[in-house]
Amino acid sequence: MNDRIVVGAALYDGNRLLAARRSAPPELAGGWELPGGKVEPGERCEDALVRELREELGVEAVPLERVPGQWPLPKGYELRVWKARLVSGEPKPLEDHDALRWLTPDEVWSVDWLAADVPAVKAALALP
Ligand code: C5P
Repeated sequence: MNDRIVVGAALYDGNRLLAARRSAPPELAGGWELPGGKVEPGERCEDALVRELREELGVEAVPLERVPGQWPLPKGYELRVWKARLVSGEPKPLEDHDALRWLTPDEVWSVDWLAADVPAVKAALALP
């Protein structure tokens, strides 16, 4: 069962990592995250990731390897992250976000990541 799983994408353009700033809900607004969202009942995690990136950013992407680990979220949810490659489209903040940034390695910690995303981003950066 993929109940209560949130998937996030470590989406790269070369060595730059995409970060998205949340505009909602109010308690998360202004925080930066790896784009993604909740897996729907019966949905595969990788399919949810593709769907969320399409809905939130208007891009087509393919999940690559899973980033090892899982990180607790409020309300019993758990964050899982996949590296992902952009196939087509230019990401735009279409839903739930009001800004996007492609972060170079030395900019990665210059944004205020949501709590769960801090270890997730560290784990993503630790992958070759
Ligand atoms: O995007 P969505 O609202 O479906 O995400 C569900 C919850 O997962 C958010 O309310 C947020 O707490 C959390 N989340 C997160 N980091 C991410 C993606 C989602 O903390 N990268």
